Amino acid sequence: MRTTALWPANENTIGDAAEFLKAGCLVAFPTETVYGLGANALDSKAVSRIFAAKGRPATNPVIVHVDRDYSDLVSETPPIARTLTDCFWPGPLTLVMKRSEKVPDVVTAGGPTVAIRSPAHPVARQLIQACGFPLAAPSANRSTCLSPTRAEHVLRSLGGRIHAILDGGPCVAGIESTVVDVTTDPPTLLRPGAASIAELEAVIGPMARIAGEKGVARSPGQLAKHYSPRTPVGFSRDAEEVRRLLTNGDRVGWLMFGAEETPSEIFVEMPANPQAYAACLYDVLHKLDAAGLDRIVVSLPPEDDDWLAIHDRLSRMN
Ligand code: TXA
Ligand code: MG
Repeated sequence: MRTTALWPANENTIGDAAEFLKAGCLVAFPTETVYGLGANALDSKAVSRIFAAKGRPATNPVIVHVDRDYSDLVSETPPIARTLTDCFWPGPLTLVMKRSEKVPDVVTAGGPTVAIRSPAHPVARQLIQACGFPLAAPSANRSTCLSPTRAEHVLRSLGGRIHAILDGGPCVAGIESTVVDVTTDPPTLLRPGAASIAELEAVIGPMARIAGEKGVARSPGQLAKHYSPRTPVGFSRDAEEVRRLLTNGDRVGWLMFGAEETPSEIFVEMPANPQAYAACLYDVLHKLDAAGLDRIVVSLPPEDDDWLAIHDRLSRMN
């Protein structure tokens, strides 16, 4: 165990964090989606420390974060990758491409592809620039737990296991990046996320879909159980069902959709817009998880494409 430094992100602390990363240490940093747990992506020992700190299975590859140029990391760049990066980078879009030899096996879990993204958050960008090397970074939480959208979530989950956390405030998107495999034609949506499917498809046409279906393991991280609070989570389309649970005597936290009941600390009225819903989802779940409840019930939002990323995460919570 070590002491984890919690630093407000500024020019000095970003410089210090880069020194730690150069020395092979782990530093958590904010992105526009969720906090990432960074290590030098070209240093296999440093990357293996990420797996140890998270308790992450070695079979689950990590995303490599770049400033912009990734030509060293791939063996070919499909034209559609260029189209997508021109339109959506920097931003919450991760592209899976054929890896080059420069990428250590531990990053790709020994596979033939590497996932790459250029984050938009200014702290993430400055950190990558200060390092001068790409950063391997999964979400900064213990494996299978909820992703962190605030520095305090990272501290609670990984405090004592990593060197430092750069605090850049709450993450605006609040949900992980959209992962698209551009080695297939058409490209395949591996994980719905913060980049809108409608906006992506407006540029590249319909993608093949496999993500969002429980049990499909094309993207190795898409394990059935992932993103979970410790409190058991149930789903409901029916407010009556929740009221029955409440009369049971159970302490129930409720993510309401629409004004189903008077809001309180543990009855949270969730936004009716998918971006706003994503922005607060993990934060609300972290709060309810800390409240020592018997169960959390989620009233399900609509099922259309705009809500696919939300349904994907909710479906992996138990
Ligand atoms: O928004 C995000 O993507 C955040 C921030 C920190 O950038 N990162 C993140 O990382 O969510 P992680 O490790 O929690 O999720 C990465 C996902 C996993 O589902 C993983 O299996 C998939 O990307 N992935 C990584 N490399 C891959 C590859 N070569 N092929 C297919 N899927 C890959
Ligand atoms: Mg994760």
